[in-house]
Formats: sequence, C-alpha cells, structure tokens
Amino acid sequence: MPNIKSILVTGANGQLGQSINSIAPEYPEYQFHFVTRNQLDLSDIENITTYFQKNNFDLIINCAAYTAVDKAEQEAELADAINHQAVKKLAEIAKEQSTVLIHISTDYVFDGTSYKPYVETNQVNPQSNYGASKLKGERALQIISPEGCIIRTSWVYSEFANNFVKTMIKLGQQRDQLSVIFDQIGSPTYAKDLAQAIMKIVANNGLIKHTKLPIYNFSNEGVCSWYDFAKAIFEMNNINCNVSPIETKDYPTPAKRPHYSLLNKAKIKLDYDLIIPYWKDSLKSCLKALQERK
Ligand SMILES: NC(=O)c1ccc[n+]([C@@H]2O[C@H](COP(=O)([O-])OP(=O)(O)OC[C@H]3O[C@@H](n4cnc5c(N)ncnc54)[C@H](OP(=O)(O)O)[C@@H]3O)[C@@H](O)[C@H]2O)c1
Repeated sequence: MPNIKSILVTGANGQLGQSINSIAPEYPEYQFHFVTRNQLDLSDIENITTYFQKNNFDLIINCAAYTAVDKAEQEAELADAINHQAVKKLAEIAKEQSTVLIHISTDYVFDGTSYKPYVETNQVNPQSNYGASKLKGERALQIISPEGCIIRTSWVYSEFANNFVKTMIKLGQQRDQLSVIFDQIGSPTYAKDLAQAIMKIVANNGLIKHTKLPIYNFSNEGVCSWYDFAKAIFEMNNINCNVSPIETKDYPTPAKRPHYSLLNKAKIKLDYDLIIPYWKDSLKSCLKALQERK
C-alpha cells in the first residue's frame, strides 16, 4: 500500500462518516478531508469528475451511499446512480490517480436463505433494489480493481444520524408496547467499531495484497434478531416498554429483507489481527456515548 497521508471520507454526515470523524484525532499522522453530499454529490458523474480534477488523495473511504432501503423500491435509478455508477467512477479515478479505495457494502447482497454465517464467497442474490445497486457497485469496483477493498457490513447503528437504536429509544419512551420482528437474524454493527477496524487496517498493517480486490465481512460478534436487539436496548436503558415478537409477514415493508444475514468475520480477523467486540458490549458503549451527548 502506498504511503498514506491524505484521506478523503465521503458521506461525512452519515453514521460511519461521523464515526470515523470522531476517532480521527487518534490518527494525527493523516490529513482527513470529510465531504458531505453538498461538497461532493455522488449522484452526478460530471460533478465527481470535476471534483477529482481539482483534488487528489492517497486514500478514499467511501461511506456515502443511498441507504433508504424501502424508498429504493421507488427510486431505483437514484439508488443505482449513487451505489453503482458513482462507485464505478470512484474506482476509475482511484485507478488513474493511484488512490487506495475502501468501499462499504452490505449483507443485503444475500437472499438470507443460508443457515450458517455467510462467508465472502457465498452466492449473492439481492432481494431489493438497494441490495442490487450495492452489488452492482461491488462488481464494478472488482472489475476496475484499484488498490483497496470492499467491506460488507450489517445493521449499522451509532450515536450519530438515524438508526434502529435511536428509533427504539424514542418509541420506547413514548409507548408501553412495541412489536418487533423476530424472524430476521443477523448481527448489529456499532459504526465506531467498523471505523476503528478500517483505521487499524490503514494505520497498522496496510492492505494485504490479494490477486483480486478483496471483499471482507464485518459486524459485531454474536447473533440476534431485531426483537432481541430491541429487548437489549430497553433493558440497558431501563426503558419500561413491553416488546412482542412478530413475524416479517406481519410487518410488511416495500423492500424484502434477508431472514438470515449473519456474516462470518474470520477473513478480516485473520488478515488484520482484529478483535471484534460482542454486540451487547458495543451496544453498551453506544448507549454511553448517547448519554454523554445529551
Ligand atoms: N445503515 C445500515 O444499517 C447499513 C447496513 C449495511 C451496510 N451499510 C453500508 O454502510 C455504509 C455506511 O452507512 P451509514 O449507516 O453510515 O449510512 P448513512 O448514515 O445513511 O449515511 C450515508 C451518507 O451518504 C450520503 N449520501 C447520500 N446520497 C449522497 C449523494 N448523492 N452524494 C453524496 N453523499 C450522499 C448521505 O448524505 P446526507 O447526510 O446528506 O443524507 C449520508 O451522509 C453505506 O455504504 C451503507 O450502504 C449500512
């Protein structure tokens, strides 16, 4: 990996973008440039081209994405522009400018019919426009193959932006009773843990060379359903709200989600010597961070 000095982080207002920003002071050896949608709109290819005619970085961490999973069923073109076409363009630019590209993808590339944790090479079969657009982004990136990697993650939450944890806390404080799906199984990812893993890869080891641009899985350790996740959030926050388990069929959404999307993290742990926290321990850390922000 080339000597990294300057790092561009896209999606600066998102969960992962803000989480990287929150740990950036621990890495004074790098010059971080955080860009929001206003500064670099990825839905417009010409705009991307113009931006990189004026700017050049050693590393791009692409945290920006079209992440409105249900809305993507109506806005397939926009999701494709941001999650596929823009990623293709970033890959071309990274290749031209000898920039390393770390791109984030999703467990929603899988259909969820597996019964054991997904490894990176398992068959993909996205069930939603969002998943399909992210998979096309992955594929374009692998074909162009600049130096870098793809990290697939799942169920991301943090003290920043909108997410399941913040929604549950808000609803739990307003209501006595909530119904939450128990037949979608996976593992939550505390965005700060992912941010730390990315920076550890960059700072300590550098990217390991593979013949093909590698894909890695990353989420917290352990397994739960959204129901278990909600129960843990309420217990740890002393919120007195009764949670009932319901089936996906009783909570219809425009986008179909995988019933099972647990990610096997063996590859990233082996390559980068990572110790990944258990999901409940990370949830505690996030709840503490949320308290401190009040
Ligand atoms: N959230 C999850 O549960 C989850 C699960 C699996 C994988 N992932 C992946 O993980 C990565 C980080 O997700 P996240 O949770 O941090 O997402 P997030 O909080 O939704 O942040 C995404 C960011 O992308 C920005 N963005 C959207 N459209 C853009 C455009 N046209 N140009 C430039 N920026 C644009 C958004 O800007 P605004 O702030 O202006 O809207 C937002 O700041 C994404 O690749 C996502 O697909 C997320």
